[in-house]
Amino acid sequence: MICFYGSQTGTAEGFASRLSAEASAYGFNALTADLEDYNCFDFESELLEDKLVVFFIATYGDGDPTENALSFFEYIKEQVSEESPKYLRYAVFSLGNSTYEHYQAAGRYVDHRLEELGCIRQFIRGEGDDEGIIENDFTAWKNKFWLTVCKKYGKEVPENFSQIDILYSSQTSAELAAYLWIFLRSRKYRLEVHHEVVGLPVNTGRLAKLDSGGYSHRATLKAPMDVPVILNKELFTGSARSCRHVVLDIADINISYQAGDHVGIYPCNDWLMVERLGRALRVDLDTVVSFHSLDAFNSKEIFPNPCSYRTAFRHFVDINGGPTPHHLRVFAEYAEGNDRERLLFLSSEAGKEDYEKFVVADMRCFAEVLEYFPSLQPSVDHFIELLPRLHCRYYSISSSPKQHAHHIHVTASVVSYKSPLGRTIKGVCSSYLSSLTPGQSAEPPRVPIFVRSSSFKLPRDRSADVIMIGPGTGLAPFRGFLQDRHYHLRKGECVGDTVLYYGCRTSNHEFLYKEEIMHYYKEKVITKLYLAFSRDQEEKVYVTHLLKKNSKELMKYMENGAYIFICGDGKRMAKDVHQVICSVVQERKVFNEKETVEYVQKLQREGRILQDVW
Ligand code: 2AM
Repeated sequence: MICFYGSQTGTAEGFASRLSAEASAYGFNALTADLEDYNCFDFESELLEDKLVVFFIATYGDGDPTENALSFFEYIKEQVSEESPKYLRYAVFSLGNSTYEHYQAAGRYVDHRLEELGCIRQFIRGEGDDEGIIENDFTAWKNKFWLTVCKKYGKEVPENFSQIDILYSSQTSAELAAYLWIFLRSRKYRLEVHHEVVGLPVNTGRLAKLDSGGYSHRATLKAPMDVPVILNKELFTGSARSCRHVVLDIADINISYQAGDHVGIYPCNDWLMVERLGRALRVDLDTVVSFHSLDAFNSKEIFPNPCSYRTAFRHFVDINGGPTPHHLRVFAEYAEGNDRERLLFLSSEAGKEDYEKFVVADMRCFAEVLEYFPSLQPSVDHFIELLPRLHCRYYSISSSPKQHAHHIHVTASVVSYKSPLGRTIKGVCSSYLSSLTPGQSAEPPRVPIFVRSSSFKLPRDRSADVIMIGPGTGLAPFRGFLQDRHYHLRKGECVGDTVLYYGCRTSNHEFLYKEEIMHYYKEKVITKLYLAFSRDQEEKVYVTHLLKKNSKELMKYMENGAYIFICGDGKRMAKDVHQVICSVVQERKVFNEKETVEYVQKLQREGRILQDVW
C-alpha cells in the first residue's frame, strides 16, 4: 500500500503518515510518499503494481492542487484513457475548507479522473473539512476504509473491530488496550542522542539544500533560497494594529516572478514559545539529536540531522496550533490517573463537545495542554514526530518586476490577539517578518523564500479593462498590477481602464500605500478609484456597497470584456462580492437565477473573474 499526499500545510501529509503507520496492524506493508518526491507519478511503475494506492489530496486557493501535486495533476490530465493500465487500485481522501468556493475541487478531480482512466476505486472518497474538526472526518473515513479494504484484500478484520472508534474509546479492556497501543506507538523514526557533539555538523536552523547550487539553483518549495530583507517599515499610522511593508532583495539568486505571484516564506517560531514548550516537556533543549527513518522505502529526514531540540522546535515543527483528538489519545498513554482519564475522554467520540471547548474555543496550544496535565510527560521524540512540520506561508507579492526587477515586496498584516485564556497569539510568519529589521547589525537579516506562480494575472491583452476589488491587504497584488500598468503606460502603450475598489477601516490610519494610490489616480494609472472606509462614519461602508451603487458601470465593463479580480478575505468579503456581482448581472440583464449563474460561471471559466483569497 502507498499513501501519496498532495499537501500544503501538512494536514494531508499527517493523515497519509497515520494511515500508513496503522497499515501494519491490519497486515499491509505501507509507505508514505510525497507526490513530488515520487518524481513524476508513473502508472507503468513497478512500484505501483498490485498496490493499493491511497491519495490524500488537499485543495489550495481557487480550487488548485497544492504545489507538490502540480506535476501529478499534469500527468493524469494528459493520460489517454485507452492507454492507461487498468490495475491501479485506489482510494482518495480529499481535504479542503468549506468556506471556499471550490471546496474539495482537487481531490474530487483526482478521484474522478482516475476512474475515467480505468483505475479501480477501492473505497469511496472521504472529505475532510478544515472549517470543522478535520481530524474527526478523517477518523470516521479511515475506520470504514479499513473495514472495507481488509475484507477486499482478504486480511483478517481484527476481532474487536466492531468497536470502530477504538482509537478514541476509553472503554478499553487490558487486551484491547495492548492492541490499541500498536496503533498509538507506531513510530516512523528512531531517535539518536548525540552525547558528543564536537565535530558534528549540527544544523542550527537552515533548511536542507537551502543554498545548494548557488545561482544555478532555482528556489523551490523544497529548496528555498536565503535572501536579505533590505527594508521593513510600518504602513499604518497611529493604529493599534500593524501592517508591514517588507522588501526582499533577490538580485543575487535565481528567482523570477510576475505581478500576482505568491512568495513562500519560511518562518521560525517565537523563541519564548519554544522555551515554554521546553519547560513543559521538561527537556534540555540543548540536547543534540538525530531522527532516523524506520521506513525502509522512505529514508527522508524529518528535518536536517543532527540538530538540538531547540532548533527543531524553533525551525522545523509547528508548535503553535492546538492538539488534535489523536494527539490527546496518544498523550493519554503518557499520563496517569485522572489526567489519563480526562485525556481519554477528550479524545473520544463522547468527549467531542468538551474537546471543542478545551482545545478549540479556549485556543489551547501544545504547551498549555502539557502544563494543564501535571502527570503528562510524553517522550520528546515521539512528541516531535506527532507535531506537524512548520510550513512556509504564502503572501501575494505586492510589486511588479517591471519596476522592481531585483526586489519582491510583501505587504503583511501582523496578526496578534488574545486567546480566551489570556495568551497572546501571534501570527507565526507575520510576527517573524516584522522582527526582521535591517540596520540592527552589519548584515541584513535573511529569510528563506521561493516563488509560487499563480493564475491571478493581468490579461495578456493590455487594452482590456480590469476591475480590482481588494479591501485590506487584498490590495497587495493590485499594487503589483498598478506598477505593471504604469510601466506600459509610460512606454506609450495602449492600456485599458484600471478600476480599483479598495476598503479599510479608516482613511487616516489604515489606508495602505495612500500616497502611491492617490498619485496613480492623479496620473490616471487608476482610471476610477472607489474607496470604502468602513469606520469613518456611523454606517459601515464596504466595497460591496460601492459595487452595488455602481452597478450600471460594472455591468458595462463586464459586457465590454473587463477582467474582475477579487483579493482578500475569502470567508466573507469574497463571497459577498461574488453575490453582488450576481445580483448586478441579474438586475441589469433582467436574468432569472439560472441565467445569472450561467453568465457568471462562463466569466469564471474564461478567467474573467479571478480570485486570490485567504
Ligand atoms: P470592518 O472591519 O470595519 O468591518 C479591510 O478589512 C476592510 O474590509 C475593513 O474596512 C473591513 O471593515 C472591511 N470588510 C469587512 N467585512 C467585509 C465584507 N464582507 N465585504 C467587504 N468589506 C468588508
